[in-house]
Amino acid sequence: MIKHILILCAFRIILVNSNTISSKRLIEIINSQNSTWRAGLNFPEETHTNHVKQRLGFLKNHPDPNFQPERRIHNTVAKILPKTFDVRDKWPKCSEIIGHIRDQGNYGSSWAFAPVEVMSDRLCIQSNGRVKFEFSAEDLMSCCSCQLDESENRADGYLDLAWEHWKVHGIVSGGDYNSDKGCKPFGALVYLNNTIPECQNSCTNLDYETSYNDDLHFGLNYYYLEEGNITAIQLALTTQGPVQVKFTVYEDFPYYKEGVYQHSYGEEIGGLYLKIIGWGVENSVPYWLVANSWGTSWGSLNGFVKIRRGFNEGGIESDAVVCEADYEAPITTPTTTSPTTTTTDTPGGHGTAIQIAPVLLLLIHFVFILNVFPFNKIM
Ligand SMILES: *[C@@H]1O[C@H](CO)[C@@H](O)[C@H](O)[C@H]1NC(C)=O
Ligand SMILES: *[C@@H]1O[C@H](CO)[C@@H](O)[C@H](O)[C@H]1NC(C)=O
Ligand SMILES: *[C@@H]1O[C@H](CO)[C@@H](O)[C@H](O)[C@H]1NC(C)=O
Repeated sequence: MIKHILILCAFRIILVNSNTISSKRLIEIINSQNSTWRAGLNFPEETHTNHVKQRLGFLKNHPDPNFQPERRIHNTVAKILPKTFDVRDKWPKCSEIIGHIRDQGNYGSSWAFAPVEVMSDRLCIQSNGRVKFEFSAEDLMSCCSCQLDESENRADGYLDLAWEHWKVHGIVSGGDYNSDKGCKPFGALVYLNNTIPECQNSCTNLDYETSYNDDLHFGLNYYYLEEGNITAIQLALTTQGPVQVKFTVYEDFPYYKEGVYQHSYGEEIGGLYLKIIGWGVENSVPYWLVANSWGTSWGSLNGFVKIRRGFNEGGIESDAVVCEADYEAPITTPTTTSPTTTTTDTPGGHGTAIQIAPVLLLLIHFVFILNVFPFNKIM
């Protein structure tokens, strides 16, 4: 009896002091629970808590409380879904972009990262691997007025405004910090100093050949899937590509190393926006395969995390967002037939080619709309 009271007391002390217990102790507690995942140190022990808190934000969708984001319900007849699925296997031409884990640094800007990742993936998929364009997180962060609060170095942003910004103003390209890729790669000011630069309508990468305005790429639409509908998320993944989700973070999550994460210890400390790229089952536990934006050294899966599927873990199944990039397939003149038409050089030859062009354009557009977003059928 006394032993039980002592254990209860010990447990209570742990709970009360959860903000101050050491990383080592926290890892011990998590791993002693024999959960479906293992914890470990992902940041230097002394700075773990600060690192983590800065990387998080609070999850807010829109400054206007009356704003209702578009939610679409698709009455698809669900085909039998595979046991495991990875978007990279379905669209191998885009696997590099889809599997690229970004690094937001210590700034709480996942609200900008998860959307630009999904935009980049979907533009690649829609163009059948032709357009490999990495949308710049810095351009979105600095040029969209979607900031909520810059106190405590937390750059909480309005997710819906970020998506709207893509539709209305467009976003240029930009790779990781120190990558020199694209028009606006992630810069030192935000990566090292947690300060968002002023919006510039010019490329910060002076070696980039395209002008800022010419580099802007736009979105056609974004919308939410039916709340909590797991099948809808799976169908979106198999027919369109990655999906952006909202995730509540508890104290244990930053210590994720491997296995299937489920909340097993600690209080809520903030939120993250993440990207789902597939699903699977590990030791009979179903999971989502999810990309975080904390670099490849976070966790043991090169920056990915498996999160329990089917239990709305951290609200991951509540607010899934999908989008369509503004991509029009270019009219490709068939290379095999054109030389023959030019050599014959019949006067009618060019005339029919000119007449065919708009029809072809229409056709391509039509096929594109039907095939890339086939909500009525499953590919
Ligand atoms: C740990 O969990 C696994 C799977 O749920 C179970 O088979 C095993 O018996 C558990 N071990 C302990 C020590 O609780
Ligand atoms: C979930 O979504 C799928 C596909 O969009 C649909 O067929 C199904 O009816 C939905 N399920 C529920 C419970 O609404
Ligand atoms: C970051 O801040 C420090 C101290 O204020 C300053 O010296 C440094 O130049 C800044 N770095 C960048 C890239 O702005």
